Amino acid sequence: MMRVGFLTSGGDCQALNATMRGIAKALYTMYDTEVEIIGFEDGFRGLIYGDYRKMQKSDFSGILTRGGTLLGTSRTPFKYIDEPDENGLNKVEAMKNTYKKLRLNCLCVLGGNGSLKTANRLSQEGLNVIGLPKTIDNDLWGTDVTFGFQSAVDIATAAIDNIHTTAASHGRVFIVEIMGHKVGFLTLNAGIAGGADVILIPEIPYDTKKVIEAIRERNKSGKAFSILAVAEGAITKEDAKLGKKELKKKKEKGKVYPSISYELADQIGEALGTEVRVTVPGHTQRGGVPNAYDRVLSTRLGAEAAMCIKRGEFGVMMARTKQKITAVPLADIAGKLKTVDPKSDIIKQAKAVGICFGD
Ligand code: F6P
Repeated sequence: MMRVGFLTSGGDCQALNATMRGIAKALYTMYDTEVEIIGFEDGFRGLIYGDYRKMQKSDFSGILTRGGTLLGTSRTPFKYIDEPDENGLNKVEAMKNTYKKLRLNCLCVLGGNGSLKTANRLSQEGLNVIGLPKTIDNDLWGTDVTFGFQSAVDIATAAIDNIHTTAASHGRVFIVEIMGHKVGFLTLNAGIAGGADVILIPEIPYDTKKVIEAIRERNKSGKAFSILAVAEGAITKEDAKLGKKELKKKKEKGKVYPSISYELADQIGEALGTEVRVTVPGHTQRGGVPNAYDRVLSTRLGAEAAMCIKRGEFGVMMARTKQKITAVPLADIAGKLKTVDPKSDIIKQAKAVGICFGD
């Protein structure tokens, strides 16, 4: 009997179910009744505390298009993984014990940066682990794209599209704040797709004056409205020079804004004497159905993960590189953040069509 554990960890996204379905369907095709899938509830928490259920083949039917995760998820920060829980339980040992007690042949971890660090740790502890690259942020090293990303790009783009019409009617400046944590892939892609006039991402610190100037220039050329796609992690040139502690101090001293977009809105409003509105699509970007791209990607990643299990190839993350699905060593990618290269072609092309990055 082949016994495989599944868990989904960290912030959810579209296509978690589609990915589990891909692995499961391929396993059932290869092993038929000789495979047993164990689903751990709420990410690593389920593995730590032995909270699991035996999955049935039917559990994986009809879920290709379902968002969220049928197993639930939670954040179990890697930085605390070696700290005992409130009852003194050693979490790493507990996870190893659950794995051994269930006589698993492999554990599939669907997760982002933090979760894959834990996956790598478990692999180094001797467990057979396969990682699946999940996140709307697309910030995982070793893969061109993560599942969830393209679906989130669609949602963020739709948000910008909807803002476009009302911004044009009122002749207003609008900021759409887009998720992505510390990286700008989501904002960059949705910004281009939504026809944003200004795109601000963490990788290209901005000069507020240049942003204001770009809006002023648009006004001069007869365009009454402007759309800014601003990453939640966007940062000014000035702040980018500060250390973490200095930045915290500065923020504590100044006026407190809910996020960077509100601060920028105030500055633009003051400088141009214009109305500036902020829209934050927030978690809608992680919700709803996976788009067609993600359904295909997840099915391919899942199927290939099952083939790795069959080959006994563990300690890897499934990746998509140069149109192929590959297996990259977890040890090579764990803890490495993929960021937008400010010198990349996509930035050059975006600038070529007149998008302002505030630099
Ligand atoms: O990593 C995915 C993500 O949606 C980020 O883009 C965002 O910064 C973060 O998670 C939000 O986390 P939470 O769901 O815990 O608020």
